[in-house]
Amino acid sequence: MTEKIRTAIFISGRGSNMQALINACKEEENFPAEINLVIANKNAMGLHFAESQSIKTKIISHEIFKNRLDFEQEIHQELVKNNIQLVCLAGFMRILSPWLVEKWEKRIINIHPSLLPKFKGANAVRDALLAKTKKTGCTTHFVTAEVDSGLIIKQSEVAILNTDTEESLAKRILTQEHLIYTETLKIVAENIINNNF
Ligand code: GAR
Repeated sequence: MTEKIRTAIFISGRGSNMQALINACKEEENFPAEINLVIANKNAMGLHFAESQSIKTKIISHEIFKNRLDFEQEIHQELVKNNIQLVCLAGFMRILSPWLVEKWEKRIINIHPSLLPKFKGANAVRDALLAKTKKTGCTTHFVTAEVDSGLIIKQSEVAILNTDTEESLAKRILTQEHLIYTETLKIVAENIINNNF
């Protein structure tokens, strides 16, 4: 049987990227990762899908901790308890501090809806539209202490149309996100199995 990297996904909302990753792990033969845990910082919509797939879910609300370190220690303990080897951020709208990021160096990946290093931050699609640029896209990257700045793994370009609204553009980018995030998880998991990093 193929070795599978035990993976957790962190979400804050809809979880469509999470869903794409869960489906790829289940449907693609010999996929080198499995999703064992979904953590949300609130009662996120995406948790329902994870539960329907019998994946363990856990809400760790940042609001009940007195500081970021306590919140992240709880997350870290949950990852260790579940023997997690790799974390995928999928619309997780909390900034992780250097403490957690360094503990999980090269073991946390993220998807962002722009061609990084352009349009970092929480409003990447709107910012690309406002900048009147002709193209944007999405990026997968390793997470480092500096937000949206770690080593880029994959990117996909999306043309911006004159008629685009934030919603229509975000929708076309999302289709590409699902593709590159699935490919990224596969590449990173294979590299962990092969001890490349
Ligand atoms: C995605 O577009 C993702 O790239 C973005 O949030 C959305 C989550 O959608 N993430 C960021 O903007 C991170 N800075 P999803 O919950 O359907 O996967």
